[in-house]
Amino acid sequence: MVYLNGEFVAKADAKISVMDRGFLFGDGVYEVIPVYGRRIFRLDAHLRRLQKSLDALKIANTYPSEKWLAVIEVLLANNPSDNQSIYLQITRGADQKRAHSFDKLTPSVYIESNPLIPKTQQQLSQGFAAITQADIRWGRCDIKATSLLANVLYSQQAKEAHVEEVILYRDELITEGASSNVFMIKNDTLFTHPTNQHILAGITRDLVLESAKACQIKIKESGFSRQDLTTADELWISSSTREVMPITRIDGCEISQGKIGQYWHQVYQHYQQLKHG
Ligand code: PDD
Repeated sequence: MVYLNGEFVAKADAKISVMDRGFLFGDGVYEVIPVYGRRIFRLDAHLRRLQKSLDALKIANTYPSEKWLAVIEVLLANNPSDNQSIYLQITRGADQKRAHSFDKLTPSVYIESNPLIPKTQQQLSQGFAAITQADIRWGRCDIKATSLLANVLYSQQAKEAHVEEVILYRDELITEGASSNVFMIKNDTLFTHPTNQHILAGITRDLVLESAKACQIKIKESGFSRQDLTTADELWISSSTREVMPITRIDGCEISQGKIGQYWHQVYQHYQQLKHG
């Protein structure tokens, strides 16, 4: 069962107009919200970011927070998994004719929830591989927009290269992953790109920083270069569906001889505590 524009329907029966601007232009925003042990994790932070994305695109938020919660709770109850991943999308809505510019429309709202299956301890203990690519995306990566063509192509590249993620650099500085934020440990300090228009302000990024602080790790929200990666002590990625994951191979070269670092272990443990409240 999914939610579409006020109704709970079977996924196969959920239909939208071909004139929906989400279909025609990718004109919409979305959120991915994790649920652990049937508890929605950091819903308020996700709804705040959703509002920011909507404001940036001048799309009205037709639902108050309580309504989002009420709809999500119905979907959660309908899904047998204790751990789920909620996908919530709002597009600008359907117009009479296709035009790039827009008038005031009724936004389309779609929500589904799927089982969330985290990586196993065995997978995590082996570390993951990534490759780097130039960040060719537009200048408003802070908006969680559904128009994700560059990210889609990067993720396909990762799939074809049999790696976990594509890590992006703009003017030689690492920005983020195709669908994750990126962290580096060097000289006992945690580095991550500052939040600006070149990256998405990940909710998990905040949780990783919160965990690092609790573990008394020195944090620098400042850029680091692709060159720095070659001598990094640890490299991690984070997202709502992947939590915080250790990257131990980048562009075919091992980081710290392919060993998982101690700081990742500390932050991962703390993150697990946050997850379980
Ligand atoms: N993506 N950066 C990008 C480009 C992302 O697409 C994501 C998440 C993140 C991490 O954000 P968060 O910690 O709030 O999940 C950073 C989601 C999971 C997706 O597109 O499916």
